[in-house]
Amino acid sequence: MFITFEGPEGAGKSTALRAVAERLREAGRAVLTTREPGAGEFGGRIREILLHGDEMPAESELFLFLADRASHVRRVIRPALERGEWVLCDRYADSTLVYQAYVRRLDADFVRRANRFATGGLVPDRTFLLDLDPEIGLARLTSRDRLDAQPIEFHRAVRAGFLNLASEEPHRWRILDASSDPKIVIEAILNEI
Ligand code: TYD
Repeated sequence: MFITFEGPEGAGKSTALRAVAERLREAGRAVLTTREPGAGEFGGRIREILLHGDEMPAESELFLFLADRASHVRRVIRPALERGEWVLCDRYADSTLVYQAYVRRLDADFVRRANRFATGGLVPDRTFLLDLDPEIGLARLTSRDRLDAQPIEFHRAVRAGFLNLASEEPHRWRILDASSDPKIVIEAILNEI
């Protein structure tokens, strides 16, 4: 099972992901938790450029996220799936469609094709959208990276982009209200999977 967690900043994706992983392990499942950008040595170096470097053209940003994903899928995600593990991933290809195409206005068809190329066609079995008003999400952050520090309009467009994507593929996505009690969000995810 390949499960991804998506959403705007401060929605509590990583907290929910950790809690769900723990519950699955208690139930006897082998679980791998991972994230994008930045799994492994290679990914970690790309993450550093993306989140802690200077501003860069949207095109460069796109290819860095894709370079990270191509390695992540081949070196981490697919091998774990082949071992029969559950893979829970904090952000994946949908983030690229939202941030680089929907928000940064790069060609969406090209981004979709590039995502397919980078992932070798690996699509999550389920994607949870932790949906939240960006004003609430940003207020929850204790520190801000280069992308967190974008103006509020950027974060509003991120939220709209995710809601749009989720409505296009309702069989894969589940939308959760991330302003509610985290325990409720976690139970809803566990119920679904
Ligand atoms: P995030 O999960 O928010 O990292 P952290 O919680 O540690 O700050 O992801 C980092 C940022 O990268 C976030 O602003 C979303 C952005 N991002 C993209 O723009 N495109 C992508 O393809 C991915 C995976 C992330």
